Amino acid sequence: MDIDQLYETALRMMAPGKGILAADESTGTIGKRFKSINIENTEDNRRDWREMLFRTEPAMSDHVSGVILYDETIRQLAKDGTALVKLIEDAGAVPGIKVDAGAKDLAGSPGEMITEGLDGLRGRLAEYYKLGARFAKWRAVINIGGEDDDLIPSPYCINTNVHALARYAALCQEANIVPIVEPEVIMDGSHDIERCYEVTEFTLKRLYEELFEQGIMLEGTILKPNMVISGSTCPEQASRDEVAEMTIQCLKNAVPAAVPGIAFLSGGQSDEDATAHLNAMTSGFDLPWPMTFSYGRALQGAPLKAWGGTDVEAGQKAFNHRARMNGLAALGEWSP
Ligand code: 13P
Repeated sequence: MDIDQLYETALRMMAPGKGILAADESTGTIGKRFKSINIENTEDNRRDWREMLFRTEPAMSDHVSGVILYDETIRQLAKDGTALVKLIEDAGAVPGIKVDAGAKDLAGSPGEMITEGLDGLRGRLAEYYKLGARFAKWRAVINIGGEDDDLIPSPYCINTNVHALARYAALCQEANIVPIVEPEVIMDGSHDIERCYEVTEFTLKRLYEELFEQGIMLEGTILKPNMVISGSTCPEQASRDEVAEMTIQCLKNAVPAAVPGIAFLSGGQSDEDATAHLNAMTSGFDLPWPMTFSYGRALQGAPLKAWGGTDVEAGQKAFNHRARMNGLAALGEWSP
């Protein structure tokens, strides 16, 4: 393990005014996104869509520090035969790779999930490094139960998930790949923002204990957390300022200052909420870590619609716009 190299990669991922494009949807998930615009889920369509994004300028050079890829994409060639990884590198961004095998039902605990993918991970990381990946992502899923179900999430679910995150992180660092650790507390549900705070804080505190116990060098990691936010069907939706305040309070209580950066997931928020929340956090607080975005849906939703399977110009225009708005938000310089 080369901690200097890991730290340098982490700093590149957190370059000011830039953030991470999460283009790592599995084949099943991208199929759901394509269905919304009536596009068939073929290998060529997946390539065309991602090639269109990775060739978008100035979005890629100015606002994207890294791209999270899926196994198929890291091996895929553009229409002219150039590796998609090369398009990303040529734009000055760091290629990354999703290495988890998805969240599966947690045995013995209906309604909860455990992320799989540790078996054979050492070998896969070595191969991904050769293919150009310098960071990786592993997403744990923590659901919050309904009003009559305050047993979800269980400590069992949180503990097994953070244990797996730490095992993944150790293997990544051994391979000189920066682990993005992503414990996502899901926003679906009718719970209020206080409940989200409580679950997120508990999860993050357990995560950093586990990373310590398994010998992870925090300087060579990036945290990808959810924001502390009201459940999507909670009748009382917290304001943008409340989301920013409670998210910062939660992170300050749980995330060590040695972590070189925090890159949020969007988690199903509207495009503008995701941008506004990030901006509120980067503009109004004294923070021990740089913060930026690592958005999937909030960066790609509008471009996907505009592209519609064929219109590259419209897709790139929409991607340029969302990337610029989020780049400004990472600097605390966005305004509606
Ligand atoms: P969203 O921004 O759509 O939540 O996706 C980010 C991601 O990578 C989830 O793992």
